[in-house]
Amino acid sequence: MEFKRSVIDLIKERTSTRTYDGRGLEKEHLDELSAYLDKINQEIKIKARFKIVSNLGTGKEESKRLGTYGFIQGANTYIVGIMDKNKNDAFEFGYVFERIILFATDLGIQTCWLGGTFSKDNFMQIVGLNENEFIAIISPVGYKKEKMRVFEKTMRSSIGADKRKPWSELFFNKNLQPLDEDEVGEFKLPIEMVRLGPSASNKQPWRIIKDENTFHFFLCRNKGYGIIGYDLQKNDIGIAKCHFDLTIEELGIKGSW
Ligand SMILES: Cc1cc2nc3c(=O)[nH]c(=O)nc-3n(C[C@H](O)[C@H](O)[C@H](O)COP(=O)(O)O)c2cc1C
Repeated sequence: MEFKRSVIDLIKERTSTRTYDGRGLEKEHLDELSAYLDKINQEIKIKARFKIVSNLGTGKEESKRLGTYGFIQGANTYIVGIMDKNKNDAFEFGYVFERIILFATDLGIQTCWLGGTFSKDNFMQIVGLNENEFIAIISPVGYKKEKMRVFEKTMRSSIGADKRKPWSELFFNKNLQPLDEDEVGEFKLPIEMVRLGPSASNKQPWRIIKDENTFHFFLCRNKGYGIIGYDLQKNDIGIAKCHFDLTIEELGIKGSW
């Protein structure tokens, strides 16, 4: 596995950071992250690529230009996730981008998935896209400031970012009754890691139905998060798959998708 630490610890530790200390990435971190993105770009099976853009500046004017003003403060480096307009696979893209987020977490770098609160046009110009490409997701990468801004605290509390739905609302047996944590054996942790994942506006749209030793993943859509443009909720299911998959790999459980 590409992580130095336990992926279970990384999933538990990762949280969105919107207030950064203004420093660029340390050279060692930038090199490791760039090498990881190069590897992903070579191996990826969908038409997508990932790029780091640095030295964007952290002032008011710069963040206004990036469209992150108000939401993200003090970040001058971003990972930009780019996809093909015609082959737009949000499910696989979500899987891969979360793997990158966890890799950054492993390095001690903070992140924040951004699907909406940035200027796609200005990032397009900075990155230099081909005609058939668009930007699906970006994330600032940097080091968090000791003290969170009031705005960030308020935002977290308004979307309940520190909370997750209980098992009884997310996971079911084949009779559609809530799944009992103690009835799933070795799958307890992989399922719990799905529950802890990040999602757009913390909607947690993943549902799992257990049928013997098969786990069926479903998407329970929320109004307003439709499939026009980039399908953020399909992306969320990719995150769920990523957490389940990496945890199963770490625990040495055998299986197939
Ligand atoms: C696909 C996706 C898109 C997101 N887009 C935004 C965004 O545009 N702006 C923002 O501030 N946070 C965004 N987030 C972050 C979520 O609000 C956050 O993950 C969720 O509230 C849970 O909080 P946590 O990441 O700290 O655990 C996004 C998350 C995901 C997974």
